[in-house]
Amino acid sequence: MPTFNPASPQAADIQSLFFVMLLVAAVIMAIVTGLVAYITVRFRARPGDGEPHQEFGRPRLEIAWTLASLAVVTGLFLLTIRTMRAADPPPGARSPDVVVIGHQWWWEVRYPASGAVTANEIHLPVGVRSLLRLQSADVIHDLWLPRLGRKMDMIPGHPNYVWLQPRAAGTYLGACSEYCGAQHAWMRLRVVAQPADEFDAWSRRQLAAPVAPAGGAAAAGARLFQNLTCPNCHAITGTGAAARIGPDLTHLAERETLGAGVLDNTRANLTAWLADPQRVKPGSYMPNLQLSDAQVAELVAYMETLR
Ligand code: CUA
Repeated sequence: MPTFNPASPQAADIQSLFFVMLLVAAVIMAIVTGLVAYITVRFRARPGDGEPHQEFGRPRLEIAWTLASLAVVTGLFLLTIRTMRAADPPPGARSPDVVVIGHQWWWEVRYPASGAVTANEIHLPVGVRSLLRLQSADVIHDLWLPRLGRKMDMIPGHPNYVWLQPRAAGTYLGACSEYCGAQHAWMRLRVVAQPADEFDAWSRRQLAAPVAPAGGAAAAGARLFQNLTCPNCHAITGTGAAARIGPDLTHLAERETLGAGVLDNTRANLTAWLADPQRVKPGSYMPNLQLSDAQVAELVAYMETLR
């Protein structure tokens, strides 16, 4: 279970708190059920017994158990505050390293310092504490990254902040965890944690415009992309397309999935997606453009050059 396999200091803090709470709850449950079982047997009614002695009020005992409960709750409260401060210190004046914007049903990922924009994959340097600002473009979404221990609502008009600090290089899977409409289940996310040099190289690549195809099907696809309605929603650096309605496609070919995780990013899947997005992800805002097979093939050839 990802909860028991923390991959960040924040996740480890939250896990320790969870174990302390579990232990305290287990001890209380053992005491209460044990006493109930003991008393049920020890003081059961026997034949010939009369009405037992009645007692009303034991101030000392009552004060003791009230204080004991108060002590337990206060202890857990203080531990919770400590964990919250460790895992989620207020961002203060620091500006976010990454801005993640939830859309129905995909994730926009922006790097304010560099200006890079991508989708559905958050690249981060390993071991570094990165501050994420979470926003929504439409309804409430929820960023959930189990192994990184982070789960936070994305609320329209009210940015939230989380810190992410993956301990080891690798890919950490996540999902939207707040029901947000038809394709909530296919609002998947991945965090790609990279060593600093790899992350820097990735960041620089994100800013570069893809090389425009010189000829063939890819060049035909590039023209088609501009002449169809694609630029009304999508952006590709270095072309006229700059809309921010759908995912930025500048480096689409480098991403691992399509449609926020609904398909692996392969030629066959991209073909199926462009031929009829509504069959792949019903309700998605990507319309069926009624393209011919030849047009789909040209667009796919073009998309494969976007790296
Ligand atoms: Cu976005 Cu559920």
